Amino acid sequence: MAMKTKFSVTAYDIGRVALVAAANVALVYGIRWVLRNLDPARREREKAEKQAVQLLAKLRLTHLKLSEHELAVAADLVDTTALKFSWSAIGGLESVIEQLKDNVILPLSRRDLFIGSPLLSPPRGVLLYGPPGCGKTLLAKVLAKEAGCNFINLQLSSLADKWYGESQKLAAAVFSLAMKLQPVVVFIDEIDAFLRSRQTSDHETTAMMKAQFMSLWDGLDSDSSARIVIIGATNRPQDVDLAILRRMPLRFAVNLPTTSERWTILKVILADQELDDDVDLKRVAEYTEGYTGSDLKELCRNAALSCVKDTLKNECALNETPVDADTTDSTRIRPIRMSDLEVGLQCQRQQSLVTVTSI
Ligand SMILES: Nc1ncnc2c1ncn2[C@@H]1O[C@H](COP(=O)(O)OP(=O)(O)O)[C@@H](O)[C@H]1O
Ligand SMILES: [Mg+2]
Repeated sequence: MAMKTKFSVTAYDIGRVALVAAANVALVYGIRWVLRNLDPARREREKAEKQAVQLLAKLRLTHLKLSEHELAVAADLVDTTALKFSWSAIGGLESVIEQLKDNVILPLSRRDLFIGSPLLSPPRGVLLYGPPGCGKTLLAKVLAKEAGCNFINLQLSSLADKWYGESQKLAAAVFSLAMKLQPVVVFIDEIDAFLRSRQTSDHETTAMMKAQFMSLWDGLDSDSSARIVIIGATNRPQDVDLAILRRMPLRFAVNLPTTSERWTILKVILADQELDDDVDLKRVAEYTEGYTGSDLKELCRNAALSCVKDTLKNECALNETPVDADTTDSTRIRPIRMSDLEVGLQCQRQQSLVTVTSI
């Protein structure tokens, strides 16, 4: 006689299965929650994501579908509409500006003229190098504004992630995001810190991230229609990985300004300031051999500060009541005099003397 096995599923069994399933789901979510909260970089990542969402909205790029990693990199996008720069903010450096216009802006903005010949595809890498304070970062900011394309000011911190493999994913996201945002400039300031010569002491994650970055960079060559340019700036070109330098065939020296360039820089920096008739900027330019643009800015800032201090002194001497601090009326402040600039020059000389003697 055939044995008949009877399976009867009781409500009790169903309950048990449901309980096990619920426990498993709770376990998975529990582990996820713990991992999320163990990650010290979580808050920063969430902040970056929020910032990226706001930026994308400002730049009208909300239609883009971005991955979590691309969103993290998108926090480095620059809202160029908020920048108030133009080429006229730069004194001197005419030949670098011309070259940047021809080699970066034109291929990115006039695709119609550059399509069809791989020879005319935008350069994949451009390097600005030279002593600090001579205008490399300023050049990039103005370029961001004038290029009229998307601009990512890539920060090293955006790619640093202590979780294994995450930095590589973020490096990959730079390129996938750039593909979605083209035409785009990816600017890496202080590229020597970012992609310095690979050393055996490099952390494995850093070494893998660099290797990933370079291989993706090479990948751009296979797509001659990609409108992506990577611009790096450095004060220490000797510290940049040779493999990176090779990927930046267009290199521009941003050197100490010449006398006539210093004259132009002074005019640019003081364009909105009232100057006394005795101010001779050409003479100041002649006196400031070896000064960087940044030193000249400091000189002018000190001169402008002297005028404000004099106004304060007058107020005290005449026992005047100070005007409303929020007022925008600056007519009470006297124009900058040649003596203000001369005093500033002497101070800066003394300061550099102090530095030299203290070394
Ligand atoms: N050629 C220049 N024309 C006008 N301002 C300049 C120039 N070079 C430097 N400056 C001033 O010095 C500041 C610092 O320059 P920056 O671009 O940061 O130098 P770098 O990146 O080469 O170290 C600028 O914000 C700008 O105010
Ligand atoms: Mg800089």
